[in-house]
Amino acid sequence: MTKYILAPSIIAADFTRIAEEIHACESAGADWLHMDVMDGHFVPNITIGPLFVEACRKAAKLPLDVHLMISEPEKYIEAFAKAGADNITVHAETCPDLPEMLRKIKSLGCTAGITLNPATPASALDSALPFADLALVMSVHPGFSGQKFMPEMIGKVEELRSKLNAIRSNAHLEVDGGISLDTLPLMKKAGANAFVAGSAVFNHPQGTAAGVRALKEITSS
Ligand code: DX5
Ligand code: ZN
Repeated sequence: MTKYILAPSIIAADFTRIAEEIHACESAGADWLHMDVMDGHFVPNITIGPLFVEACRKAAKLPLDVHLMISEPEKYIEAFAKAGADNITVHAETCPDLPEMLRKIKSLGCTAGITLNPATPASALDSALPFADLALVMSVHPGFSGQKFMPEMIGKVEELRSKLNAIRSNAHLEVDGGISLDTLPLMKKAGANAFVAGSAVFNHPQGTAAGVRALKEITSS
């Protein structure tokens, strides 16, 4: 039985009320909190670091799903693990030796995820898939919340789903970028089971909890 997961991306949240936003997500049934870390080098934006993850750790009961959109992630995985990350996902484009990076992340007590930019083919994950707890498909160019969903990434989800099935992997297949009431069903049909949503949750007209409930309804339908 597939477990479907909704992971609100807190970069789209109101940072002046972050604890309230986190509690709204939790009470409405979110499964994870997705933390988009950006360094202004790998992507053209700077967001949060270990200090902010630590603060969210104090406020949250949910698992923290940390997405490192940073160069040289090997220098920072320990700090994020110490800050309270439950999962750490790294970009294939930033790791010359993905299997070794996944081993290091696991040695810190976190589950280990791999991800790739839209322009990077799924085959870039081949060497690491057998060791991954999670594979993440970006359906926008990483850097900003609120971007337009890239439908051409549906094929990459299908491709990764068949690769994971072929090696009998139980890894989560997560999608991130422009996930909404309209696009989530497309990604679910393609084989994703974990859904990151920023603006669809935190910019919902009836508020954050309503945003979570609306998306949870379609993940579990
Ligand atoms: C891109 C970010 C976003 C964010 C989700 O780098 O990773 O994808 O998590 O934002 P929305 O759901 O608004 O696209
Ligand atoms: Zn992300």
